[in-house]
Amino acid sequence: MVKAAVLGAAGGIGQPLSLLLKTCSLVHELALYDVVNTPGVAADLSHIATPAVTTGYLPADDGLQKALEGCDIVVIPAGLPRKPGMTRDELFNKNAGIVSALITGVAKWCPKAYVLIISNPVNSTVPIAAEVLKAHKVFDARKLFGVTSLDVVRASTFTAEIVGEKDPRKLTIPVVGGHSGDTIVPLLSQTTPPVSIPEDKVAGLVNRIQFGGDEVVKAKDGAGSATLSMAFAGYRFAEAVLKAHSGETGIVEPTFIYLPGVPGGAEVLKQVGGLEYFAVPVELGPGGAVKATNPLIAASEAEKKLLEVAIAGLKGNIAKGVEFVQASS
Ligand code: NAI
Repeated sequence: MVKAAVLGAAGGIGQPLSLLLKTCSLVHELALYDVVNTPGVAADLSHIATPAVTTGYLPADDGLQKALEGCDIVVIPAGLPRKPGMTRDELFNKNAGIVSALITGVAKWCPKAYVLIISNPVNSTVPIAAEVLKAHKVFDARKLFGVTSLDVVRASTFTAEIVGEKDPRKLTIPVVGGHSGDTIVPLLSQTTPPVSIPEDKVAGLVNRIQFGGDEVVKAKDGAGSATLSMAFAGYRFAEAVLKAHSGETGIVEPTFIYLPGVPGGAEVLKQVGGLEYFAVPVELGPGGAVKATNPLIAASEAEKKLLEVAIAGLKGNIAKGVEFVQASS
């Protein structure tokens, strides 16, 4: 029996993500938490004829505690999204506090749950979550994931367009680094099955994968950032974790992890100048991350240059998250 919670469930990502989780046969109980509107969202979803029993909670009456108690997986899309012209880093001041408060709840009421962080800036909110869990002495790096799946999804979609592949799902592209602008590094040279991208199209494709989020922010013109594609991507990752939890083997998904705490992470850590957090394809199992793979070794010369830029950017983003928790404790 699996209980899942979505924190920020009434938002642009939270609602469609909750819908997808409600239709997932691996979920038996679905708890929706937000500061507004969850009773309505939960009532609506509860009419869908699937087994997951759906409940909605607000902060009053110990809502967060009730949502989290007994949870096996917690997905967090709570917090402000970007407006045109904003970087993800500019969301830090608002979202750092939100994530840290929600993770304190996780530490108290479901410390063994898988935790999937969607709230931006992911490069900083994942270190925040880790520091809060460490402070409560319940940190298990194998169960904490920064969700970078939207970059992976975009990489497949945009590459398929260029190489004329009609079904983007057939392309697997390791996307590594972080989740913002030039910290996102698609290793196109390791696409499986191999594809031939015209030389003059590579730089544009990389740029589109790195800044694809801006296309959506601009098109929504002030009404937020990616929500539907993010719900799809977030669900894809949550489903991968749940399938692995239920014993399915051979599941590998890129995700932003704490390298020192995941088997295989030390190899990657050496490759990225000692950075403790980095997204790489990770094999998932019943306890979460089973093995961090290291595709960086085989990166092309051009990709190595992109990696240098990503590492430099990530350093500051990670330090900001760690310092936020240390300064407030
Ligand atoms: P939204 O504003 O539509 O929804 C956010 C929800 O969080 C709202 O319902 C709000 O009431 C709720 N919330 C605020 N404070 C809360 C708290 N303390 N506890 C519980 N819920 C709280 O925003 P949207 O578009 O759903 O985006 C959510 C987050 O996801 C943003 O930070 C955004 O930047 C991020 N995002 C991440 C992506 C990724 O690839 N990881 C992609 C797209 C967005």
